[in-house]
Amino acid sequence: MRAADDLMTELRAVVGDANVVTDRAVVAGYTTDWTGRFHGDTPAVVRPGTRDEVAATLRACTERGVAIVLQGGNTGLVGGSVPLHGEIVVSLRRLDALGPVDARAGQVTAQAGVTLARLQAHARAAGWEYAVDLAARDSATVGGTIATNAGGLHVFRHGPTRAQVVGVEAVLASGAVVGTLDGLEKDNTGYHLAGLLTGSEGTLAAVTAARLRLVPRPRNVVVALCAFDDVEDALDGVAVVRREIDTARAIELFFQDGLDLVCDRLGLARPFAKRHDAFVLIECAGRTDPAPALAAAIESLAAVRDVAVATDDRTARRLWRYREAHTEAINLLGPPHKLDVTLPAGALGGFVARVRQRLRELVPSAQVWLFGHAADGNMHVNVTGVAPDDDSVTDAVLRLVVEMRGSISAEHGIGTAKRRWLHLVRTGDEIAAYRAIKRALDPAGVLNPHALLPGP
Ligand code: MLT
Ligand code: ZN
Repeated sequence: MRAADDLMTELRAVVGDANVVTDRAVVAGYTTDWTGRFHGDTPAVVRPGTRDEVAATLRACTERGVAIVLQGGNTGLVGGSVPLHGEIVVSLRRLDALGPVDARAGQVTAQAGVTLARLQAHARAAGWEYAVDLAARDSATVGGTIATNAGGLHVFRHGPTRAQVVGVEAVLASGAVVGTLDGLEKDNTGYHLAGLLTGSEGTLAAVTAARLRLVPRPRNVVVALCAFDDVEDALDGVAVVRREIDTARAIELFFQDGLDLVCDRLGLARPFAKRHDAFVLIECAGRTDPAPALAAAIESLAAVRDVAVATDDRTARRLWRYREAHTEAINLLGPPHKLDVTLPAGALGGFVARVRQRLRELVPSAQVWLFGHAADGNMHVNVTGVAPDDDSVTDAVLRLVVEMRGSISAEHGIGTAKRRWLHLVRTGDEIAAYRAIKRALDPAGVLNPHALLPGP
């Protein structure tokens, strides 16, 4: 008890009384994740405002062997950012400085707590674009998206978060500060710490700031929603769009049942009078108008049954809503089981049929919602009507994915939700290497100790 009191006293001295939050009502916002499925508890939420305060916080916790969960916008979907085992929450949201866009380098430096939406607006105002985009953009932070190597809507064109990170500044569990924000595009000098920390899910260090690569801002954006009779036709269409249209930057897939749910729950008008099986949402963005090339590609697809095209912002947002609102509409049915998986491109259609079939046999009363990033082979399998602690659904879906040579996590990470299944896709030697890296950087094992790596 005295050790815990000592720690609180030290943390208050580091970040100030107001930033060691113990008020239950406020703490509640940090202890439940975005899906509502993962709830934890914490003695305190610590909110450092500078890199040196992060360093002193981590050092104090390490010296006492007290576990920490690092948190950004808390939009993670795999239980990796909430204190499920009573850890102290270290929120990095107060680190929200955003530097000027470096026009010569096409880069910007952002602290961990800057939201994705703010970073995007900042880049756009300077004539650039930050390539990572996802539905949780208003809350998700630079630090959180780096910790999870967030993917999102533009991965097949620009790569995931890791491809945007030129460098990071990070604090190790010991309080040591590592990394560089100098923005050198070529710097072949040893282990690439930024690459290692990106996707490490808060288990190796606290990323406090990053030097991020920007891409040219497209002046023209066109969105089309195409309807198909079945998923195989839809995926053939996706391949044609990828091959023919160099401005394509998002190619998303969803199905009639998901569209019905979104429209019914959120009161949206249906996009088409007729019902179809599969829908592909395409966004093209370029310096010159991508509309003619997109129209020609769609025209060449005999299997397109219906199409809606948006060349203005308002209509584009309306079409996007059918896809982006899936998460919100599904959550209204109760906390879902969320599986985020990738399949080899050729196996994606077969997976859609087989996962529905397998889940129907396993839990006949469950509802299965599929949507995702078609061009990346990334399906989000959401299952509702199953108790939150029933792991049979996760087990069945992940084993099917592995059988079909896919990955159990495409873009959400492992968190606490999937660590029991890591061995399905990583060998014993690989997991041992992960553990060795973890031990080297965090010998006391205080940083997010229940995420990513399987328990002993
Ligand atoms: C999405 O693609 O909409 C996100 O990954 C969120 C989700 O899977 O619910
Ligand atoms: Zn996604």
